[in-house]
Amino acid sequence: MWTNIKTRWTGWDWHGASLFNLRSPSSHPEIVKQIVDEFVLPKGDSARILDVGGTRQGFVAHLGDDYGHLRPRVCLVNPRGGAEIAYRNIESIPENTEPFDLAMMFGVMVYLDEPSLIDMFCGIHRCLRPGGALIISDPDGAKWVNHLERPIKPLVGLPSDMYTEAETIRLLQEVGFVRCRSRPDLGGSSRYLTIVAHRKSAA
Ligand SMILES: C[S@@+](CC[C@H](N)C(=O)[O-])C[C@H]1O[C@@H](n2cnc3c(N)ncnc32)[C@H](O)[C@@H]1O
Repeated sequence: MWTNIKTRWTGWDWHGASLFNLRSPSSHPEIVKQIVDEFVLPKGDSARILDVGGTRQGFVAHLGDDYGHLRPRVCLVNPRGGAEIAYRNIESIPENTEPFDLAMMFGVMVYLDEPSLIDMFCGIHRCLRPGGALIISDPDGAKWVNHLERPIKPLVGLPSDMYTEAETIRLLQEVGFVRCRSRPDLGGSSRYLTIVAHRKSAA
């Protein structure tokens, strides 16, 4: 019976509308709109968006009719693969790819130990245009309530890495990000840390 429960749990399509995903900014149409208004529209008609750990049920699904024209400009990176996924990992994005104006990474830091997170931040930084923004949202390692889940998550095959806001900003700055700020207004849950960081503008 335990094996059955575990198999069903780990086999759950986390791309879909799960309770966990409801904490993602991309599950909230009003936050998706806010992100587009602040970080995409000011960059003009050719703005490009990178959704690391993105799925077809996430950001792209919540663009709605008003911003539906942006869908072809969103590039999804996800190791799960699938027709809608452009790359399975950040390293696969070719050096000569046109840079992105906005990168998002929601619910992915839980999968990454510190060396992998540093590599991920480096990879995203490389793919951004100078002045481009990265938005991160993930369970806040400073909130005790998130730690209650930590011993349970690995038992059911879920990742459980967690970082505080200060740790995340330190790692972002280590790889060259600047203007790293907490943006709880873009978060889908008070249990998550949500941070915006930028690649340095061209001099
Ligand atoms: C909790 S879901 C969040 C999905 C989506 N970002 C959202 O906010 O709705 C986490 C996603 O991260 C993906 N993921 C795990 N490790 C990853 C990695 N190293 N790079 C990119 N995506 C990863 C998983 O496959 C999964 O689809």
